[in-house]
Amino acid sequence: MIEVHKKYELSSLKVEDNPFLKGAFRPNDTEYTADTESLKVIGEIPKDLHGIYVRNTHNQVHESIGLYHPFDGDGMLHAIHFEEGKATYRNRFVQTVGFLAEQGAGRSLWPGLLQPELYTVRGWGAIGAMKDNAGTDVIAHAGKLIASMSQGSEPYRIDPITLETTGTSEWGKHVHPFGVSSHYKVDVYTGDMMFFNFGEQYPFMNYGVINRDNELVHYVPIELPGARWPHDLGITQNYTILHDLPMFFDEKDLAKGIRQTKFFKDIPSRFGIIPRFGNNSQVRWFEATPCYILHLSNCYEDGDEVIMDACVSFQPKAPGVGEKTSDPFERILAHLDKHNTKTHMWRFRFNMKTGKTIEECIDDEVTEFPIVNNDYVGYKYRYSYNTLFKKGDWLFTGIKKYDLLTGTSTRYEYGEGRYGDEPQIARTVNSVEEDDGYVITMVVDMKNNQSECIILDAKEIERGPIARIILPHVVQTGTHACWVDGDRIYGERPAK
Ligand SMILES: [Fe+2]
Repeated sequence: MIEVHKKYELSSLKVEDNPFLKGAFRPNDTEYTADTESLKVIGEIPKDLHGIYVRNTHNQVHESIGLYHPFDGDGMLHAIHFEEGKATYRNRFVQTVGFLAEQGAGRSLWPGLLQPELYTVRGWGAIGAMKDNAGTDVIAHAGKLIASMSQGSEPYRIDPITLETTGTSEWGKHVHPFGVSSHYKVDVYTGDMMFFNFGEQYPFMNYGVINRDNELVHYVPIELPGARWPHDLGITQNYTILHDLPMFFDEKDLAKGIRQTKFFKDIPSRFGIIPRFGNNSQVRWFEATPCYILHLSNCYEDGDEVIMDACVSFQPKAPGVGEKTSDPFERILAHLDKHNTKTHMWRFRFNMKTGKTIEECIDDEVTEFPIVNNDYVGYKYRYSYNTLFKKGDWLFTGIKKYDLLTGTSTRYEYGEGRYGDEPQIARTVNSVEEDDGYVITMVVDMKNNQSECIILDAKEIERGPIARIILPHVVQTGTHACWVDGDRIYGERPAK
């Protein structure tokens, strides 16, 4: 059955000159529920695949106040639930207060990242002027999904099966007004979820832990030298790694209300290693080469060292090819184009005895959006699955699988005019090895004007899809994704 749940009017589509509202970025207007009895499946969905692949998108409904940035749009989740060789697709908007208020008004009420000074009503997140769009990240914890925007969201909880927004967590009032930033991490062995948020006033960052029962059990201020622009955090079995990176709003500009990030190439990067339940005075700061990091692959402890693998850029503000600074979309693209910022896999080794940092290049090929098997987040791991990018654009062309033990890699590319989303690793029901499982993503096929969910064997991604599920509409290319393990759909696994 293919059922239309709800259809929305999108006034955002009236905007003709914004490339981030067209083609593969065109927002979706219809919420569907559809199962594989009615969807075309090419190949066979494995029977040992149990869980839910969920991805978030910035799916703008209303014409923007000011220029639209591709990270401003309303959060819309797309999910495929696999069980017993069958699958069900659903997509739903995240029903944040900001989303509902704009639905009621029939227009945008908050501006976005590019022109926050246009706000008339106080908003959410680090800047305090934007709508809580909850469109950047999504993760499973304590039996629900949490969707968030990178600047910080209220902790909205969403049913992983129906995608119904069920409200915010009670602990949200304690982290107000900054909420939770994207890229919280779950230790699946303890059920702890580690998160951070940031703002423009002292102490500039907070760090917290939510336990397996969705209770806030730890929340402490973290002092930074000034307002920063962090995007990710790492965890290990005993520590959390916080980021203080030299790309942020200039203090003098910020005092005048101008928010344009600058890269301070002479200020070292700093990484703060804090015990999982530690406080500000226990943070050990390690210095490293000035860089910017959006996403970490993974962190773990190895003897005296804490290892952090990341996709780094040493030139995050490189001018775009042909950039004349007068075209705002070229400027946005220059910063999103990973070939322009030369983002690549890098290892940091922080020695907890000596306080020294050792840095090593893992690979100089341009990749980003690194992901690992959920069971290995925070623990010694072997495989990272990174995204390959189209040069000069912000489109995902394939997956590169790193074997960090042997130093080898394999890849699968989607083909001409086909662009993927962040993949996830779905372990098989009785998995033993780290790559016993499947790589799942969605692909938009611009030539055939269709979208599909593809399933690859994680051991042999180069062989291409085992199965392709053609979706009921062309799905907007988007931001982050998560895999909800079959045995965590209703809550964290019992502690060992
Ligand atoms: Fe991100």
